Amino acid sequence: MNAETLEAEPTVEAPVADDGVISDLYNDPFPIYRRLRETAPVHWVPAIGRYLVVGFSAIHTIDHDPETFTANEEGSLMIRAMGHSMLRKDDPEHAEERKALGSVLKPKAIKTVWNEVFQCNYERYLKDFIAEAEPDTVDGQKVLRADFHTGFAEPYAAENLREIIGFKNATWQDIRRWSQDMINATGNYADDPEIWDLGKKAFDEVDDAIDEVIPSLDENTLLAHMISAGMPIHSVRANIKMTIGGGFNEPRDAMGTTLWALLERPDQLAQVRQTGAKGWERAFDESVRWVAPIGMYSRQTTKETVLEGIRLPAGAKLGVNVGAANRDPAQFENPEEFDINREQKPHLGFGAGTHYCAGAWVARAQVARVGLPQIDAQLPGLARDPEREPRAGGWVFRGMLSVPVTWQCN
Ligand code: HEM
Repeated sequence: MNAETLEAEPTVEAPVADDGVISDLYNDPFPIYRRLRETAPVHWVPAIGRYLVVGFSAIHTIDHDPETFTANEEGSLMIRAMGHSMLRKDDPEHAEERKALGSVLKPKAIKTVWNEVFQCNYERYLKDFIAEAEPDTVDGQKVLRADFHTGFAEPYAAENLREIIGFKNATWQDIRRWSQDMINATGNYADDPEIWDLGKKAFDEVDDAIDEVIPSLDENTLLAHMISAGMPIHSVRANIKMTIGGGFNEPRDAMGTTLWALLERPDQLAQVRQTGAKGWERAFDESVRWVAPIGMYSRQTTKETVLEGIRLPAGAKLGVNVGAANRDPAQFENPEEFDINREQKPHLGFGAGTHYCAGAWVARAQVARVGLPQIDAQLPGLARDPEREPRAGGWVFRGMLSVPVTWQCN
């Protein structure tokens, strides 16, 4: 069903979510999502001035009807923080910019170029991870302990993205800082001047780094493809910033969530080990459904419309909450469970429709083909650290904040 066909049905106003909803989402959004979904697929949330869309089929409608639900949001904080990228444009402008990415993020380039880069980065950061681990004794057994999130997932994902973009003049720590500071500015609804200052600094540094590297680009990189496709420089700048914001945290977070989910479920981990590559890919995909690293993105109505029986005024700002929709029982059986054996159905963790993630293949390759299977094979007895608690946080972006693990000393 699309928004048009629903117009003939009886309509109601969206229920209003209480103000506490937003402040409680950070720690554990899932019980709140469940409560919201049980009442209605769309809620008005005064605290953020948006309609929060939590139902799977409502989001499916939105993502496939860009004429009614534009990505080009008025007053978008993302445009202010990063410039006007393809993510905030509709077709045909969006399609033209997306085409300029060329083959860089596609399976052939992964096979011929990026797998080797990921492998090198894996080896380099695994070495650092092991060298920086703390020796200890747990239950009489000599172990090494470390935080997988900060010690491996973070440098590995940032370094992979740095190389894909073509920033040979930056470090992985630059990517991490730029990404976080621009993401914070994108979510700066409270208009905190300090957050804007840091965001602006990252914005300017990225522009300078682009200018500096353009004369000596390697041909396989995103920057080289955008420039040779004739993309105007202001669009190159905006799309690179959006990719820094969207191509680092997400593989890092999916890697941490997948590993943690499997360490907590030894039966599924054993099954993955037995199945090999396919098993790791299945676990990665289930983790992106279970805890969507990008939990919410925005859209805006271009006209008054009715979505799943709920009236939306023209110009309504929407929070498309895929983190909630990915646990909608109308789409998935036992949706709160991490289950690699569930019936495979499309989820929304990579978005849907014209803005479907351009980096999904790259993410899957670095996490499920290179990073996780090898780390699991190379660290004997890899397990949860029984003495340290894992931490997860966030809802607009969500992932593990700390994944404490141990493995046996040789
Ligand atoms: C697990 C990892 C990832 C997840 C869960 C993810 C998720 C998403 C989602 C939900 C969207 C759509 C947002 C919207 O419609 O507003 C998106 C778009 C996009 N992603 Fe990813 N992403 C991941 C990794 C990556 C990587 C590694 C890259 C680049 C190297 C990347 C590049 C992009 C780009 C360029 C777009 C914009 C596509 C367009 O507008 O047509 N992503 N991603």
